[in-house]
Amino acid sequence: MPAFEDSDFGVQTPLSPVKSRDSNRLGRVTSRGSQVVGSQPVGSVGSITIPTDGPGNAVEVPATRSSISEASQYMHSLSLSPSMKDRRGSRNSFGASLPIPRSKRQSRLSSVNYPDGVPQRPGMPPIQPSRDIIAAQLQDLSSEKVRAAKDMAFVFDIDGVLVHGDRLIPEGKRVLEILNGDNELGIKIPHIFLTNGSGKPEIARCAQLSKILSTQISTDQFIQSHTPMRALAEYYKTVLVVGGEGYKCREVAEQYGFQDIVVPNDIVASDPSIAPYRVFTDEERATSRPRDFSKTNIDAIMVFSDSRDYATDMQIIIDLLRSENGRLGTLAKDPESQRIPIYFSQGDMLCPTEHPIPRMSQGTFRIGLEAMYKALTGADLERVVYGKPELATYKYADEVIASWMEQIHNDERLPSNIYMIGDNPASDIIGGNMYGWNTCLVRTGVFQGGDNDEENPASFGVFRNVLDAVQTAIRKELGEDFKFGFDESINPVLNGNGISAVE
Ligand code: G3P
Ligand code: MG
Repeated sequence: MPAFEDSDFGVQTPLSPVKSRDSNRLGRVTSRGSQVVGSQPVGSVGSITIPTDGPGNAVEVPATRSSISEASQYMHSLSLSPSMKDRRGSRNSFGASLPIPRSKRQSRLSSVNYPDGVPQRPGMPPIQPSRDIIAAQLQDLSSEKVRAAKDMAFVFDIDGVLVHGDRLIPEGKRVLEILNGDNELGIKIPHIFLTNGSGKPEIARCAQLSKILSTQISTDQFIQSHTPMRALAEYYKTVLVVGGEGYKCREVAEQYGFQDIVVPNDIVASDPSIAPYRVFTDEERATSRPRDFSKTNIDAIMVFSDSRDYATDMQIIIDLLRSENGRLGTLAKDPESQRIPIYFSQGDMLCPTEHPIPRMSQGTFRIGLEAMYKALTGADLERVVYGKPELATYKYADEVIASWMEQIHNDERLPSNIYMIGDNPASDIIGGNMYGWNTCLVRTGVFQGGDNDEENPASFGVFRNVLDAVQTAIRKELGEDFKFGFDESINPVLNGNGISAVE
């Protein structure tokens, strides 16, 4: 597998300040904060600022090694934000393949998830018997608009577009009302959700989102980063599943059909010495599933969600990657040919949260592992990364859209005009652009830039929020005069193609 140079991707991010691999020639900031450029005598290379007003009983010993991270030479540059300029939409090494479920219906859990009972009309006011009849009549009289409404679809990113963590972005609620029928035709405009979020079963996440957005969201219109990874259950028998709270990712893997699922707690419970810094609680011991891992080969590693304990998870993953075919306690003679595969559900570096500065996500965890692996074995770590902007994830989204079309319009096909609405240029937008979708970048999340993102510009434009984006797209497809509101008092006979509904 090739290792890539930063220049292959033309990206410089705050995470890759190193421009030269000769650290002696790097610019540095002294302890007084001034910039120094040029060679430094051996022993003084570095840039870490040491406070000068300490208690005075510490001795400052010059570092003998560069304080500049060595990770850049160890990690795949694809780990960094891919740049549209270089037409690199993938964080994966070229040549890797990512299985996705062949047919959505065969492989997904059935189920429209309605936590509060089956809704008649998600997002809409309580049923009135005449309403559906009126809507049907209006739709009969506006066949062109109806055709256009069924020939478009929205794909929503979630974090930073519809919600911030558990907090609603108010325009998100209104958008879903409009798309669920609160529009002049009373028609459902197709839409699905495509998130790099992870860490709990789809049904649980849909229930949580349905509550926040006051709209029923079905698992059949919903894709998390690990959702397509259910296809991997056919490939591997015993898997290590990493990340997420408690045992939720074990539950996810069970639902995906994995036969034999190991989580790090099972390994720690079997041999606490494997994770020397771990404080293992009685409850964790009681809920884990220890076994004799010297008799078990783990076939693959699946990082489904963010690690809750980097030290333990990284140690166990590195142990497995260096082992003979996934047998803990062994060290492979040839680390490459005997190495088991490792998959990550997504590659985002940072995730916006309640904290003012975005928090590290799976991408940074992976880069740490890549650097450790290279440092310990001398070999590049081959790995597969699912999630946006990976092509496999977008292909899977197509399946879900077509299938959702069948559910809501009894017409299983892909609409011609698909709009991706996202807040992250390096994930939502680059992926949508490369997949030929119209892309809309909103300002309610990661993107805080100017007119458009310079590296990965949104093709349909930049919008204040999701409501702006959706209304603009609908007006383009259905006409500038399209009304966002359904008026049940309207008389369809008197209002043919020139329907006038409420604003
Ligand atoms: O980065 C992890 C995740 O929270 C991103 O979610 O919905 O913005 O793809 P989303
Ligand atoms: Mg987002």
